[in-house]
Amino acid sequence: NGQNSFSGKKVLITAGPTYEAIDPVRFIGNHSSGKMGYALAETIARKGGAVTLVSGPVSLAVPAGVELVRVQSAAEMHDACMKRQADYDIAILSAAVADYTPEEVAAEKIKKSEAGLTLTLRKTPDILASLGAAKKKGQLLVGFALETNNELANARKKLESKNADMIVLNSLNDSGAGFGKPTNKITLVLDNGRELAFETKTKEAVAEDIAGQVLQMIS
Ligand code: PMT
Repeated sequence: NGQNSFSGKKVLITAGPTYEAIDPVRFIGNHSSGKMGYALAETIARKGGAVTLVSGPVSLAVPAGVELVRVQSAAEMHDACMKRQADYDIAILSAAVADYTPEEVAAEKIKKSEAGLTLTLRKTPDILASLGAAKKKGQLLVGFALETNNELANARKKLESKNADMIVLNSLNDSGAGFGKPTNKITLVLDNGRELAFETKTKEAVAEDIAGQVLQMIS
């Protein structure tokens, strides 16, 4: 059952890290390579979807037929997604978005001193929560969860509190999962109370599994 094509579907995907500027030369970032999100974009475009990929700074080739929107910060990624909020059928948020950003960006390079340096950080906007709050009937919203403990309970909490339809859970406790690696190990947490656990696979094969589940949900 289910269809095998994303033909006619507009798919918004986020990928990669965000960089939160401290001063003109420094930033707060994370280890996301973008591989997971780019594999999703490639897979879904190949299956006929009209993919817009909102990507933080990564060094990966843009998959064929994919519209790329480059961003740096969490605020820019949030704006790029909200601009397209009314216009997607499926959104899949695989980016590792910074949760905090410097309260102020220094205009000049911060000089080092023996006194040390204290940065004040404030919360970034939560893109998954914003898209969830604005979700219209017929839109499908998929979030990721990168957890280190109480993985399933935390993922299910995210599913409910963010108004998502599915969470792709990956755990930093699995050696073949997470940042930068060519492989991932996921559990799909569904809104019908079910969970689907998969073996460790290449991120391309993981993208196929996620795409397959999404196709079942939209048909
Ligand atoms: O890029 P790779 O090297 O291939 O690695 C892939 C990955 C590990 C980055 C990916 O598989 C993954 O787990 N992405 C989500 C990482 C993350 O930030 O998880 P989280 O549990 O902190 O966030 C939960 C969800 O909220 C995610 O869908 C995230 O995109 C979203 N989020 C988080 C913060 C924020 N301000 N806005 C968001 O939309």
